[in-house]
Amino acid sequence: MKGIILAGGSGSRLYPLTKVASKQLQPVYDKPMIYYPLTVLIASGIREFCLISTPHDLPRFKQLLGDGQRWGLSIEYREQAKPEGIAQAFCIAESFIGKDSVALMLGDNIFFGGDAFPRACAAFRSGATLFAYHVNDPERYGVVEFGVDGKAISIEEKPTHPRSHYAIPGVYLYDNDVIAIARSLKPSPRGELEITDVNNEYLRRGTLNVVRLSRGTAWLDAGTSTRLHEASAYVHSIEKRQGIKLGCPEEAALHRGFLTVGQLEDLLTTMPACEYRDYLADVAMDARRHGQRGA
Ligand code: G1P
Repeated sequence: MKGIILAGGSGSRLYPLTKVASKQLQPVYDKPMIYYPLTVLIASGIREFCLISTPHDLPRFKQLLGDGQRWGLSIEYREQAKPEGIAQAFCIAESFIGKDSVALMLGDNIFFGGDAFPRACAAFRSGATLFAYHVNDPERYGVVEFGVDGKAISIEEKPTHPRSHYAIPGVYLYDNDVIAIARSLKPSPRGELEITDVNNEYLRRGTLNVVRLSRGTAWLDAGTSTRLHEASAYVHSIEKRQGIKLGCPEEAALHRGFLTVGQLEDLLTTMPACEYRDYLADVAMDARRHGQRGA
């Protein structure tokens, strides 16, 4: 399965923070926001990525993430010239997806806890797999309604009168049909190719699977300055309490076997002295102690 991270948009609600660097490059406590979704996908076993962003921001993502090789990944880049919808990602990244299945993740979605994503990626065969998360304010999201048998029966984008409290977060798994489906979409009244229209097509075909995320999962939104601050505070309190870091791509790559301990140690020599390096040095030492892929 390949991975697409969509990091487009103008981030206007975070202005003036986003005047120079896009929303997904903003710090969430001690790391750029994009590290968090990237880590979720790496931890789910995805190794080949395509990052889509605006022509303005793409060079900065390249500067930050490079070609992914130092983390045992490959990262390609594609431009979304105008904000014409999430589903446009499949048209833009068609040659990257090739004949594979694909996980799409929005670059501003931050998750912690649970193992729903690695499980769903490992179990994925065909159709589409979405996730559902109970929220207080479903009208701000795509909303899924479940029937008595627990199966999804409707999906609506930002409904005025939501039929449930289950929002659909920005992580979507699709088979290769998604390219043809995205290509056949017409722009919505707001001029976008809607991801909800893609999901409704899978629902119509009877090949849509929706996994409810458990209570232990945190899905944070960093779309406004207050929420960005709250997300940072959340990360800070967990990291401080547990002595672990959230959203650390190097650590996830090590645990998935994409990086050896030796490669991680080499990587450390390229980092300035900082807390992040100290943490990764501990991770590497721990891995050596437990005999993890030392080469
Ligand atoms: C988008 C999707 C929406 C989804 C949300 C998750 O909304 O259109 O269905 O629930 O991402 O973050 P937007 O971020 O464009 O408001």
